[in-house]
Amino acid sequence: MSAPPRRLEQIARSTALVSGLVLLAFAAAELCNDAIGLVSLEAMGDVAAWRTALIRSWPGTALLFVAFAAHVGTTLWFVARRATLRMPLWDGILTISGILVPVLLLPTIVDTSGARVLFGVDDDSLYRLAKLWPEHAFFYVILIVLLWGHGCLGLHQWLKLRPRYASIAPVLGVVALALPIAAVAGLVAAARVVSVLMADENFAGQVRAATRWPTADAEDALWRWRLGALAAYAVLLLGVAGALTARFLRIVVAPKIDVTYVNGPTLKASTGPTLLEISRIHGVLHADACGGRGRCKACSVRIEQGEASLPPRSAAELEMLGSEGPLIRLGCQIRPSAALTVTRLTHTADAAAAEPELDMAGIERQVAALCVQLQDQSTVLGARRAYDAIFLLNEFLDMVHAAVKNHNGWVARVTGSGIIAVFGRDDTAEAACRSAATASADIDVALDRMNEKFAAELGRPIAAAMALTFGTAYLGRIGAGSPKPLTAIGPVIDAAIGLASLTEARGNQFLSDPTAFQAGGLDPKGFELLTLTAKSGETRQVFATNHARLALPPDKPPPVPPG
Ligand code: FES
Repeated sequence: MSAPPRRLEQIARSTALVSGLVLLAFAAAELCNDAIGLVSLEAMGDVAAWRTALIRSWPGTALLFVAFAAHVGTTLWFVARRATLRMPLWDGILTISGILVPVLLLPTIVDTSGARVLFGVDDDSLYRLAKLWPEHAFFYVILIVLLWGHGCLGLHQWLKLRPRYASIAPVLGVVALALPIAAVAGLVAAARVVSVLMADENFAGQVRAATRWPTADAEDALWRWRLGALAAYAVLLLGVAGALTARFLRIVVAPKIDVTYVNGPTLKASTGPTLLEISRIHGVLHADACGGRGRCKACSVRIEQGEASLPPRSAAELEMLGSEGPLIRLGCQIRPSAALTVTRLTHTADAAAAEPELDMAGIERQVAALCVQLQDQSTVLGARRAYDAIFLLNEFLDMVHAAVKNHNGWVARVTGSGIIAVFGRDDTAEAACRSAATASADIDVALDRMNEKFAAELGRPIAAAMALTFGTAYLGRIGAGSPKPLTAIGPVIDAAIGLASLTEARGNQFLSDPTAFQAGGLDPKGFELLTLTAKSGETRQVFATNHARLALPPDKPPPVPPG
């Protein structure tokens, strides 16, 4: 199976998501109905009458059928086109439960809806409960656990990337656990009552007559239908297994290219799989938080060489990487077809531990340090609810982080409402200072964009205080306990922090140590030259501006303006 057009993949992802949400809503309604069995059999029957009226209406039936077919279809399609079976644990659980649910659900559908359509059985709650207890009860509980677990895990993986999910996750977690427990308890309570009632021949006869209970011949026919449905699904699974095998064979014989990971291995990789799949096939650590669905940015890489061979950004990349430079791509969206060199931009904990050059003893480097702080943070954040304040702060830090990463910088420390970034860990002094200046110009522009985006919520624009210094830093793993984070300390970092405070106190946007301008060959035109006097009486000079974009080196393309 060759790689499908990216648009088709996008449609399949959306279809899987929407159909999954529809099925989860139906499942939740079913579980709520079962839970009412804890109240009484009558109450359960009354609610079931409403629920079945909805499901048996033609829009309800059509929606349920289409959602089921679409969800199973897309699940199998994504399985068939996997390039490797290596995947995160949660993705494995989601995939296996997605394959198993129809195995348990199809016989239930035949026994209820199938019996109604084929033999006119009234599959109301009395019929279902009488059929359920005791021999099918265990089977049904397994179905509830598998189906509900699959739905909740899928929903969690989708929502966990949303900024406000953390605040509602505990409530959703309680509902996700309580509902199936209540449903099973209600179902067992109601089924036991029905089983006692069914022991009375008179009552059983009335129930059989009222529900048009299937005859022995009809039961035989339903058994054959159950078998047929499972056989058809087994054929489908065999087809998927065949497609998967063919895909693996194509990958084995496909032309090979060099894929080089900066600070990592160089591989001979087959063309066809995505970069993230190549990483997984070869056991290279590569972060991902959405299972390669193009929703998280964790797999981002910077293309160091070979960008010309890559297709333009996919819709998912355009959405996720809108403000990032053109060399930043999502590893799960690009399929290398020629030699490629990349830097992984999100370090997994294991990958960080695998960086041998920055050991506990540390190293000394001449670097540019850029300290970026949210100005007047107590006023900006103090008036907001906790989750709004955290959301806004994360948007700000993400924006700064993106600009830093985009220009080969490294976030050495997050200081509450700011970031200390280091440039030049593996670069010349000139390149380091120019990269830091370019990042500060990008932040200036991105801040305008952020203020536009949140204008209605903010009430007043937010501002950043930036400070650029150049000098000596010590890089290493510093901290208490284990693992120790990789960070930077030293005079240049202290100077950047001190200068950033001064930037804020003066109401400027950007102050720079002239040494950084000198080392980077930057043009101070448009900057004010200030002479500052320290408490000790010592004087120093700094360049100051309210527009950090003036620091952009003349040979760099200007950042994209807002809008
Ligand atoms: S793995 Fe989430 S966007 Fe690529």
